Amino acid sequence: TTVEWEEENYDIGGHAHFMHKEICEQPEAVDRVLRGRIDDRFATVRLGGLNLDAREARAVRRVKILGCGSAYYAGQIGAQMIEELARIPADAEPASEFRHRNPVVDPDTLYVAVSQSGETYDTLAAVQELRRKGARVLGVVNVVGSAVARETDGGIYLHAGPEVCVVSTKCFTNTAVALALLALHLGRVRDLSVADGRRILAGLRRLPEQIGQVLEQEEGIAELAAGLARARSAMFVGRVRGYPVAREAAQKLKEVSYVHAEAYPASELKHGPLALIEPEVPTVAVVPDDELLDKNRATLEEIAARGGRILAVAHRVQETAEHTVVVPRNEPELDPVLLGVPLQLLAYHTALALGRDVDRPRNLAKSVTVE
Ligand code: G6P
Repeated sequence: TTVEWEEENYDIGGHAHFMHKEICEQPEAVDRVLRGRIDDRFATVRLGGLNLDAREARAVRRVKILGCGSAYYAGQIGAQMIEELARIPADAEPASEFRHRNPVVDPDTLYVAVSQSGETYDTLAAVQELRRKGARVLGVVNVVGSAVARETDGGIYLHAGPEVCVVSTKCFTNTAVALALLALHLGRVRDLSVADGRRILAGLRRLPEQIGQVLEQEEGIAELAAGLARARSAMFVGRVRGYPVAREAAQKLKEVSYVHAEAYPASELKHGPLALIEPEVPTVAVVPDDELLDKNRATLEEIAARGGRILAVAHRVQETAEHTVVVPRNEPELDPVLLGVPLQLLAYHTALALGRDVDRPRNLAKSVTVE
């Protein structure tokens, strides 16, 4: 399927900002990245553009995901999904760092370049260096026919439609979903069971409606944002699946509101940044109802004991938190996709409360096409 980028897509359509429009478009955007790709018969997905046959997919010994900014954080979510579903060692690295450190390029590694625009210089340079060394590189790209799409061996298009706001929202979400599709595909040619394949497919199908349910909470989130707008600095924490969600949320807040934010793995808090916790520095905690819930609760108690105020994004109300935004549960592997959505609204409304230019934040560009 291809999505025509019609003129009307660039229309703000009654929204105050493109950022708001693009956040609200996510149910349809996710629907499009899934469309035509679900294969119920074999409990897997069909990714026509991948150019990777089953034998090649089985031979992959490692996956390395490369991207910049939000693309990198989405890549981190995707790497965890690949490890969980396909049991292939996977990690994400900023493309900008990778290309400057003379990386060891391994023939059994599958490289995945992630880029909304497909024109980010650092990402493209990493792709070119990898290709020159004979590596197999896939692209996860939104803009059809862009440089990264042209210079990779195959890939997955996001079909999110044009993203106009400088900061990424719907393309971040669609990248995480596209990487979930890749994880499921790699899993099902390896050891992921039919039952687990079906479970993930059912979870993917629920995503658009569940994102819609999160968006319905916008008013409440806007009230919480008014409080965050007064903060000197904010701490974002998450564990394992929640960590990249926290990183992206902190980045989003910084980009559009200029409120200083720091993201930390919840488990690392006590090894340093706990010293920063005080009533003026609130913590935004990503707390999925997974096997790490107890650990996360212990972290929230440590923060509260130091006078830290907590806003939790969780599957159920957290007693230690001043406020909880309750997000619907999906499957544990896919939960990061949903947990990120209220945090986009939080960044948006914090920026509005401070009178920022959300679609065109200072010092930033939509795509950085120069060195
Ligand atoms: C710029 C934008 C970010 C974006 C990054 C990567 O720095 O300001 O919002 O995440 O580029 O862009 P890409 O088009 O490669 O996804």
